[in-house]
Amino acid sequence: MTDENTTASAKAPRILLLYYSFSGQSRKVLEAAGEVFAQRGCEVVTAGIEFTDPRYAPRFAHFPMRRVWPDMLSVLKAQQNGETGEFRTPDTVRNGDYDLICIGSPTWWKAPAMPIRSFLQTDEARKLLDGKPFAVFTVCREYWQENYAEVCRLGEACGGRYTDEIHFTYPGDPLRSMLSLTSYLGSGRYRKRYLGLRLPPTNVQPDQLDRVRAFAGGLASRLFGRDK
Ligand SMILES: Cc1cc2nc3c(=O)[nH]c(=O)nc-3n(C[C@H](O)[C@H](O)[C@H](O)COP(=O)(O)O)c2cc1C
Repeated sequence: MTDENTTASAKAPRILLLYYSFSGQSRKVLEAAGEVFAQRGCEVVTAGIEFTDPRYAPRFAHFPMRRVWPDMLSVLKAQQNGETGEFRTPDTVRNGDYDLICIGSPTWWKAPAMPIRSFLQTDEARKLLDGKPFAVFTVCREYWQENYAEVCRLGEACGGRYTDEIHFTYPGDPLRSMLSLTSYLGSGRYRKRYLGLRLPPTNVQPDQLDRVRAFAGGLASRLFGRDK
């Protein structure tokens, strides 16, 4: 092996965990992946996108939501129309050069949450993603496909190379899982029953965190030869 190769293989791959997360679910998923990348000798940098748009952000500035249905519905039209909004990224997004970008994207009204979709349409995103592999982590109650497809499309439009995806949905039939989630988003508490119905658990579950750890291990092996 030449000196150059030795240096190259010894250099820790740099991985950016980029996400928006209102109730902490996407963050939790990416952090679990980040622990595995770090165990495999990668350098892990975290970048949470902040939602700052004055039209909508005040409703998303508090957890739990103050008025869950009006707050959720406030972005419905904008989401359906594919609108973008203001956001802020940490310096790590602009200052670093990364070997893999992991994008944590929660679903809002069947689409990537506005801060993620907005970011992916900027020069900053193009600079970050151009020529780089990216993986998509979608988190939602039910509708992950539309979100995932849009993140892929926008990431590739930035010149990124789509590598893989993992998605997480929440248990229960559509009505009960929706009641369980909205009850949580509006109270910050997990209720067992609501409106006379028994509710399934909501949010990312421990076995899903095990799945994301295995997924991250697979990425580290495949992309960087970083086996256990
Ligand atoms: C405004 C809003 C709209 C949502 N719309 C959908 C939806 O259309 N489909 C779905 O499956 N989940 C939907 N959800 C559920 C989120 O995807 C879910 O709460 C997820 O855990 C959010 O991740 P986060 O905590 O990382 O932000 C919505 C949540 C919010 C706050």
